[in-house]
Amino acid sequence: MNPKKMKLTKIMVLVSGSGMNLQALIDAERSGKLRNGTITAVISDHPQAFAIERARRAGIPVFVEVPQEELSRAERNLELSNRILERAQSMNINGIILAGFLSILQGPLVSAFFGKMINIHPSLLPKFGGNGMYGMKVHQAVLEAGEKESGCTVHFVDNGINTGTIILQRKVPVLSGDSPGDLAERIRHEEYSAIVNASVILIKIVNRGAVV
Ligand code: GAR
Repeated sequence: MNPKKMKLTKIMVLVSGSGMNLQALIDAERSGKLRNGTITAVISDHPQAFAIERARRAGIPVFVEVPQEELSRAERNLELSNRILERAQSMNINGIILAGFLSILQGPLVSAFFGKMINIHPSLLPKFGGNGMYGMKVHQAVLEAGEKESGCTVHFVDNGINTGTIILQRKVPVLSGDSPGDLAERIRHEEYSAIVNASVILIKIVNRGAVV
């Protein structure tokens, strides 16, 4: 069917940082690459994330949902996940993209969006994933392990941390003398097309009403 004639697929993007992956998604929507997908809302768990500014500039409703620090880690993750689920349901969201989102999601949100929620991670999972593995810590660990290649992975979100089914991966070489920043930069260039391509797959799944 002509994507222009299809019902819009409403996407919510979750962010914590500079929002360069969010920007790639915004640009992809503008150029028609997301087919009938439309970024309907952005949620940041960090009030100072530059991603918030990117969403505002693009005219996308953005909500700041800060984790409640006074709760235990498990309670905090669940409480935040429940707030995100409430927003998603009240806005009739069809799919969720974690684009550099650092809180761990749990409970009814994960069940409600099983097969409809994806995450980008800056390593070749299952290597260098899991609790505490995010951003520069990942690249540091890759260099310390003497890996010859690294990259990024987009996967479905399940109840574990970076354990969901892998949708796609992109590889880059690790070069001698690389700093964590050098490696992060090389991987970033792959991340933007990886997140866009995986989002198109997500949108197709949602369009079909498929459960994976
Ligand atoms: C990206 O490199 C992403 O892969 C990583 O955070 C960065 C966010 O950058 N995600 C994780 O580490 C998740 N475990 P951005 O805010 O500029 O898109």
